[in-house]
Amino acid sequence: MTRVLYLIACAAGPTEYIDDGVRAAQAAGWDTCLVLTPTAARWWAPRMRELEELTGRTVRSEYKLPGESDTLPKAHAMLVAPLSCTSLNKWGAGIADTLAIGLVSECVHMGVPVVAMPYFNQAQGAQPAVARSVAALRKQGVLYLDGDDGYTPHPPRQGAPKAFPWGKALARLR
Ligand SMILES: Cc1cc2nc3c(=O)[nH]c(=O)nc-3n(C[C@H](O)[C@H](O)[C@H](O)COP(=O)(O)O)c2cc1C
Repeated sequence: MTRVLYLIACAAGPTEYIDDGVRAAQAAGWDTCLVLTPTAARWWAPRMRELEELTGRTVRSEYKLPGESDTLPKAHAMLVAPLSCTSLNKWGAGIADTLAIGLVSECVHMGVPVVAMPYFNQAQGAQPAVARSVAALRKQGVLYLDGDDGYTPHPPRQGAPKAFPWGKALARLR
């Protein structure tokens, strides 16, 4: 049975190339469902069909309405990548006002392995909230990949989003 991965992407640089992330996850053997934050979905709005054809599924970005049924299969694992600075801080503070963060903030406490790899610059990362949020995620059991294990914030205006190291995150999924 192919295992199901929710690839959850925020509005951060590498999401412009989220199709690369989907292909990398598929090559690693995952049935990959894509969830975008509402802002990330706006970035892809003109090309959403491409992502739906690539994944073979609906790309979700909004909470369903009460009474609506799930459109995606149950996840065996979740990867939040790229995790934006804003979503990191919302998640760390327990604010789940997007489906993207709502899914992981609950599922990590329901036995689903959750891995997160950030992408933001050093100026964003210097906010005191960032270190607090990373600690809050790790305390809950999220595998947060930074430093040599994942992504280290880049100097402002020197990002290389196309070179986001998808393989490092996929290698850590159980
Ligand atoms: C073109 C563009 C690129 C951005 N790149 C990043 C980024 O790489 N990392 C980041 O944390 N925020 C980045 N931002 C800011 C986020 O998009 C913004 O904080 C947004 O509210 C994040 O929302 P989300 O986490 O719900 O997707 C970028 C904004 C724009 C307009």
